[in-house]
Amino acid sequence: MNLEQVSKLESKLLLSTYERYPVMLRRGRGVYVYDDKGRRYLDFLSGIGVNALGYAHPAITKTIANQSKLLIHTSNLFYHEYQAKLAAALTRISGMDRAFFTNSGTEAWEGALKLARAYARENSTNGSEPRWRILALEHAFHGRTFGSLATTHKEKYRAPFAPVLPGVQFVKFNDVADLERNFDDTVCAIGFEFVQGEGGIRPVSKEFAEAAHRLAQKHNALLIADEIQSGLGRTGRWFAYQHYGIQPDLVTIAKPIAGGLPLGALLASEKVSQCIHPGMHGTTFGGGPLACAVALQLLNILERQKLLQHIQKTGDYLLEQLKKLQQEHEGIQEVRGLGLMVGMEFDSADAAKAVVKQMLERGVILNRTDETVVRFLPPYLITKQHVDAVIPQLKKVMEKNAIPVTAAERRKK
Ligand SMILES: Cc1ncc(COP(=O)(O)O)c(C=O)c1O
Repeated sequence: MNLEQVSKLESKLLLSTYERYPVMLRRGRGVYVYDDKGRRYLDFLSGIGVNALGYAHPAITKTIANQSKLLIHTSNLFYHEYQAKLAAALTRISGMDRAFFTNSGTEAWEGALKLARAYARENSTNGSEPRWRILALEHAFHGRTFGSLATTHKEKYRAPFAPVLPGVQFVKFNDVADLERNFDDTVCAIGFEFVQGEGGIRPVSKEFAEAAHRLAQKHNALLIADEIQSGLGRTGRWFAYQHYGIQPDLVTIAKPIAGGLPLGALLASEKVSQCIHPGMHGTTFGGGPLACAVALQLLNILERQKLLQHIQKTGDYLLEQLKKLQQEHEGIQEVRGLGLMVGMEFDSADAAKAVVKQMLERGVILNRTDETVVRFLPPYLITKQHVDAVIPQLKKVMEKNAIPVTAAERRKK
């Protein structure tokens, strides 16, 4: 089937949740993907932060092939050897104590919210009402299931499904005074992304993160770090919170963990882990042997090839080149990010949209988030040479001033 046939069929048969780009992908190799006509694209989005090792990485495909012949699924009623090994690796790099495996990011975040409520209940003093309020941040994105949705800031995501989980309050981004105003003994947890992803690649300030940590400790509330997009090396450290020197009580991870297979995890400190008991929480698919074996292989590769240092170096270079571009084009308002998690904010949504569209036509995959931000989440394997290939393309797109709306909007100012 060709693109036209597939899109016609999808429009009739699928729930209409996505506006797809007019490209049908067939295969990938390294940092490139190819469409049905054999056209090559340099992927600077990696399946929204999933394909950290690019496409068809030989060690990953080998592990998938071998493990699929042995055991793909067991159910969590039986042991297999990989969950404990993966938990050992993840707790070592995160400073956490225990893990629970899930299928997706949102499922990990739901687990974190449940644990926060369970912890508050176990720690409520003689008959007092357990604390149950949850603080989240302006621009936050934590997923699409009900609990996650309640902590996701954008009104347009929540409104059609209201009422969502009660008890969630949004704090103004990086506003310590607002945080202090909202934090009291009724709060059981504060959860946030140390570097917001869908919210426009916004790192929280050190001051805000430290205040959140201090207030959580003061009120015996939990600090939950959503590392689903920023975790497992993306920012040049294993986890974004490690840039801040803060140790959370709960950490959620997903996206890159199993080389493209669906897997997520909730990591918990020992004190929080003690409030969960058999039967309180579970999952059918989470932590299956195939996904866990691949995740172990992926972590192994990241360590063996010292990819964290590489991410830091390449990310700094990408940021530097984009900042140079910003100086030449007033439509670019800000360039920000950490490691290979970078955003370039434009002065209008149409400008950002046009850049993504025209870069795709030039064979480079990017995307737009929070309306005005062009997002770069390339595979960890990209090199300076790949950055050097993308920058001139961006320059051409900007210089040809193929973004008429920006110019018009700029004149209006
Ligand atoms: C920070 C963050 N949290 C949660 C999620 C939800 O993850 P999933 O789509 O795997 O449910 C995402 C997905 O983009 C995310 O970026």
